[in-house]
Amino acid sequence: MGPSIAETIEEVQQAFGLAGAGAPVTVGLVPTMGALHEGHASLIRRARQETDFVVVSIFVNPTQFGPQEDLARYPRPFDRDVEICEHEGVDLVFHPTPVVVYPPQFSTYVEVHGLQDVLEGASRPGHFRGVATVVLKLLNIVQPDVTYFGQKDAQQFRIIEQMLADLNLAFELRMCPTVRESDGLALSSRNSYLDPAQRRSASVINQALEDVRGQIDAGERHAEPLIDRARSRIAAAPGARIDYVAVVDFVTFQPIGLLRGRVLVAVAVFFGQTRLIDNLLIDIPT
Ligand code: PAJ
Repeated sequence: MGPSIAETIEEVQQAFGLAGAGAPVTVGLVPTMGALHEGHASLIRRARQETDFVVVSIFVNPTQFGPQEDLARYPRPFDRDVEICEHEGVDLVFHPTPVVVYPPQFSTYVEVHGLQDVLEGASRPGHFRGVATVVLKLLNIVQPDVTYFGQKDAQQFRIIEQMLADLNLAFELRMCPTVRESDGLALSSRNSYLDPAQRRSASVINQALEDVRGQIDAGERHAEPLIDRARSRIAAAPGARIDYVAVVDFVTFQPIGLLRGRVLVAVAVFFGQTRLIDNLLIDIPT
């Protein structure tokens, strides 16, 4: 049997009413924008293992796209997404229309200052305001026990975590490992925008990150030589245009010169108009 599909908040509540039947159930939520791939599926599987009732939200959230970004052409293969959800044993797909999430008088937004302004936030002004706002709404609508995110969007995870702490919300979050193609490229719905030559070049992102990992394993503790090496490696790939290569503290997202504690090495690279991100999260033993 396929998942129930809810398009309104009332339908979500109805689905819970039908599923609950008095039994204590834990609810897992996987927020997505659809165009599901193995990265999303890995989050769904984790939710399936850890919770009784799995909800996948599929909503291409307009408020997190900039005016020049790909909102209109973002892929929306809904029937295929539902098949994947069925295959993974999802209980409920929440697929609201924009007006359900943002009714005409909508005017409240969440901003996580500082964290929202750097790296992805610096390149995509307003992006995390849209993300934080929609995720808080999804949490309030679904009331999950555990919500699943991917490490691929590490800054997004960190911002949601800070939002919950700041607003005294006790929702539990999990960050799941990045799923990759066989050449190391992180799975992303945006990979489908790459032409064959760009797709071949794009594997350089993970190669550069793995090289950084090797340098750190070998004892390098200074950020600058790591950044320089990664930049020159990526820049040498045909068609690559670096947006940023950064080494930051995972809590503050501020750049660090000397590696210590939980460190994020984050990369964003353009191939043509397509912007790809990836990262490495490393705990440096002190
Ligand atoms: P979307 O890009 O669809 O991603 C949904 C979730 O899948 C995110 O938590 C993301 O980090 C995770 N994910 C994407 N690619 C992955 C990969 N290769 N390996 C593991 N996890 C991966 O992120 C969003 O949607 C939106 O911002 C959202 C949170 C739904 C709010 O609109």
